[in-house]
Amino acid sequence: MKKLKTLGLATIIAAAALAGTAYAGERVIGVTKPVMPTDKSDPLHEIWSGYKWATPPTRAMEDDEIANPSGPWLDIGEADWTKVDGKAGKSCATCHNDATKSMKGVSTHYPLVDKASGKLMGIEARINNCRTKYMKAKPWKWDKKDLLGMTLYVKHQSLGMPINVKVDGAAKPFFEAGKKFYYARRGQLDMSCAHCHEANYGHYIRADILSQGQTNGFPTYRLKWQKPGSVHRRFKGCNKQVRAKPFKQGSPEYTNLELYVAWRGQGLPTEMAVRK
Ligand code: HEC
Ligand code: HEC
Repeated sequence: MKKLKTLGLATIIAAAALAGTAYAGERVIGVTKPVMPTDKSDPLHEIWSGYKWATPPTRAMEDDEIANPSGPWLDIGEADWTKVDGKAGKSCATCHNDATKSMKGVSTHYPLVDKASGKLMGIEARINNCRTKYMKAKPWKWDKKDLLGMTLYVKHQSLGMPINVKVDGAAKPFFEAGKKFYYARRGQLDMSCAHCHEANYGHYIRADILSQGQTNGFPTYRLKWQKPGSVHRRFKGCNKQVRAKPFKQGSPEYTNLELYVAWRGQGLPTEMAVRK
């Protein structure tokens, strides 16, 4: 298996500088030290990665460049990068060359509004847009090996770099729709995302400690799933917990929500997370 990049000192310093937080000498920003919100309308006073509440063995799995269980999917993404597919006879590398250079920092700005279509796109939608539009290939299915692998591979090029999404201009209506979704009570339990992840983070709910429900570590390897899963899969799970009807992976509802939640975690480092 390929060696994973760890969070180097340089990236941590860069992340700290960009997030406007102090550098404390180890892997800390958003992890053992919070990110302080820069936007005064942020409802969170401190921004924390879910890593904060992960158990030491789970953290160790995430941090170990050999043991990180998402490694095999990352390898799939790397292999697919240079694989020719579709009627146009192209691979990702045909246009984007070396991913370690061309994809560096890219995922930190997603979801973003695609200029050509005016649609809000997450990384998965962007990858599939390139497949259908430029490669004349079939879109990959959500939460199957190729799309998970490629999403991990693209995001891995930004490992440690701070989330930095745009929420004004063309993104504004999508952001507002995501915010509305976040605070809407739903399901038989009549609960919003905020009931668990804003008002009660750090507290137990049954056997779990609630985090802030941040998205900086997706696709995240969940021990429960025994594989990595997309952020939209996680949203579905959280909707089901309150017995609300979930939306589809890739739906506009979840993409809007993804933008809003990414903004709540603005400045958190990109992780290849492992969670319970
Ligand atoms: C024929 C050329 C071509 C191929 C092949 C191609 N892309 Fe793209 N890609 C583009 C262009 C052009 C853009 C800029 C956005 C647009 O115009 O659609 C882009 C944008 C992207 C972006 C967003 C970059 C940013 O800065 O926001 C990602 C990520 C991406 N491509 C991934 C892939 C992946 C993964 C593959 C292979 C599955 C792939 N692309 C195949 C041409 C291509
Ligand atoms: C009834 C409580 C509850 C509600 C309501 C809820 N969640 Fe969660 N959520 C959880 C639990 C429990 C977990 C797993 C532990 C943790 O990370 O908080 C979780 C995890 C997450 C995670 C993964 C965090 C990580 O670090 O991996 C995200 C993202 C998330 N939730 C988003 C949402 C969103 C968005 C909503 C609203 C649609 C929502 N949740 C509603 C209970 C809830």
